[in-house]
Amino acid sequence: MDYKRYLITAALPYANGPVHIGHLAGCYLPADIYTRYQRAQKRDVKFVCGSDEHGVPITIRAMKEGITPQDVVDKYHAIIKDSFKEMGISFDIYSRTSNKIHHETSQAFFTKLFNDGVFEERESEQYYDESKDIFLADRYIVGTCPICGNENAYGDQCEKCGSSLSPEQLLNPRSALSSAVPVKKRTKHWYFPLDKYEEWLKEWIVVGKKDEWKANVYGQCKSWLDSGLQPRAMTRDSTWGVPVPLPDAKGKVLYVWFDAPIGYISATKELTNQWSDYWCREDTKLVHFIGKDNIVFHCIIFPAMLKAHGGFVLPDNVPANEFLNIEGEKVSTSRNWAVWVDEYLKDFPGQQDALRYVLCANAPESKDNDFTWKDFQDRVNNELSAILGNFENRAFVLMHKLCKGRVPPLHSDALNDADKTLIQEIKNARVKTETCLENYKFRDGLFEVIDLARKGNKYLQDNAPWSLAKTPELQIENQKRIDICMHLCLQLTANLAILLNPFLPFTANKMCKKMKVVERMLDWENAGRIDLLKTNYPLLAPSLLFRKIEDAEVAAQVEKLRNNLKQATSTKMDTSTKAPENTAPVTIGTTTEPIADQPVIPIGKPVITIDDFMKIDLRVGTILKAEKVEKADKLIRLELDMGTEIRTVVSGIALHFKPEDIIGKQVTVVANLAPRKMKGIESNGMILMAQNGDGRLIFVSPLETADNGIEVR
Ligand code: MF3
Ligand code: ZN
Repeated sequence: MDYKRYLITAALPYANGPVHIGHLAGCYLPADIYTRYQRAQKRDVKFVCGSDEHGVPITIRAMKEGITPQDVVDKYHAIIKDSFKEMGISFDIYSRTSNKIHHETSQAFFTKLFNDGVFEERESEQYYDESKDIFLADRYIVGTCPICGNENAYGDQCEKCGSSLSPEQLLNPRSALSSAVPVKKRTKHWYFPLDKYEEWLKEWIVVGKKDEWKANVYGQCKSWLDSGLQPRAMTRDSTWGVPVPLPDAKGKVLYVWFDAPIGYISATKELTNQWSDYWCREDTKLVHFIGKDNIVFHCIIFPAMLKAHGGFVLPDNVPANEFLNIEGEKVSTSRNWAVWVDEYLKDFPGQQDALRYVLCANAPESKDNDFTWKDFQDRVNNELSAILGNFENRAFVLMHKLCKGRVPPLHSDALNDADKTLIQEIKNARVKTETCLENYKFRDGLFEVIDLARKGNKYLQDNAPWSLAKTPELQIENQKRIDICMHLCLQLTANLAILLNPFLPFTANKMCKKMKVVERMLDWENAGRIDLLKTNYPLLAPSLLFRKIEDAEVAAQVEKLRNNLKQATSTKMDTSTKAPENTAPVTIGTTTEPIADQPVIPIGKPVITIDDFMKIDLRVGTILKAEKVEKADKLIRLELDMGTEIRTVVSGIALHFKPEDIIGKQVTVVANLAPRKMKGIESNGMILMAQNGDGRLIFVSPLETADNGIEVR
């Protein structure tokens, strides 16, 4: 298909908290790279996004802080918008779903489906908190777990024993908002019959998109389709949201996942009068960038809505990324285990491209990845700075030293094989980078760019023009060689600016200034050319593109994470951010649909036999010594008294405990675990730890002092 237009969307972030670097890596950065690349190709592109300002978590946050939901979203919309702008995420529009045009657009969408008789109307019973006048999502009902007796189990899951629950199973259910005993109340809602679109979706996705979409995206869709689709409520009982545009729907709003994706349409409307060209013409390429928790909504529910409505294009691709963990642990906003973008910008002023580089080089494109501050430092210092920055700097320094600060002539009649190879590499780099970008392989694309810089460094090293300068007898010949070498290095630098531009726009811009070329040079069509800088053209003085990240900065960030965690987990855990959006029942008849807002993860492990269990040699030991492992933020080296021997065990608990606080503790040890080296230390076993619902780690120890070395069974 020959596309005439590109409509690129990035998931609308919930305006109930700032954005963290996981959001950037998962969705906004790849979307921005793709968009900048398409713009450099001079294609007709619109890049739209905005704040998702509805939904239960926002109401609850407002209730807790004693402010209105509008106050909440006003605050975070401003913070989020600013973070994106500062990071160079170049939306054509960053809108919001609480504005008028969005309310009108989503209501018109609903009305069309309603008038076409698409919805099914159903009544059901739902838990209600009379003291707060609010229907309760499963997450907001707490009670005693029927399986393990935990008194603080949630209506959808017990975080102590891991059982998945429904609110009906809880003993002594109470409202998480007021502790009131919830009552059941009848309520009417409008359901979208996803089941009726199952065959069409199968055709479109399983037959049509299988080889085009990323494996992680296709896989999730397939498993949803295989387990069968069911009608889903598209309205909720709430006062915050887009009012349901029907006469008998007082106190009801559109389900946030109904209105939010329509936000892409409203934002485009707000942006341009030509919005329908982008949304309604077959030769538009619509691409949704999202995180993996949004796959079902963008690949199944929203396309079915668009199909039911008619007249809209469907997404060509939905290149969802997986999650970015932080220092080996899942991001948790309630535990404040996250690196917030607004804080990064304060702590590392002017270092946007350093973060963009690391998040792209380490993007969770096909599996969850880990961000560590050490890795951040390593990548910035050893790749960005040492390869790319170094090459650019050497080119500038040497041309000032050896060529009087002007672009020397190429002497094209005197090129040797190495020169010709380099010219070919410059051309190849464009093709390789382009192929990666067209196929949403941003990590690989960035690697190709760095690789070109690496080749430049090698070429420079092999030619060693600085040593040639020192031999006066061969002056003319030598100057020719110096000219060729420096000419090509400078053209290569100009090429790097073009190829880098989608990834690191701040750097590409700086490079243009230093080369005194206009930004138009960055047009993609110029990549591969070796006549970008005119001979005899004077360039600015050398200056470093990147600064190194210091050890102290890394240590300070790790410390900050740990302190945030401590603070967040010592104050009462809050459920404010990112709770599932399932206020209304998602059930029809007797089948219960899984909580769709989160990927379906089976709880627990497969059954084992007693023999399987008996293979594990569990024993009691006492911590005699504990010390932090150098250059590993998470590891503590333990010496354990095992009764008959002293054992060394390396344990990943350093973010949770100070070594001096755990000496003398009795622990349970997996004593027959195969030895394993960590950071050069051989670990002989593993200590058992449990993680509490609030994220704290708890030692699994005997309740009374036991003899060291005794068996646990
Ligand atoms: N607010 C949702 C989230 O952060 C994403 C909404 S994407 C949209 O998970 F398509 F609905 F806009
Ligand atoms: Zn339980």
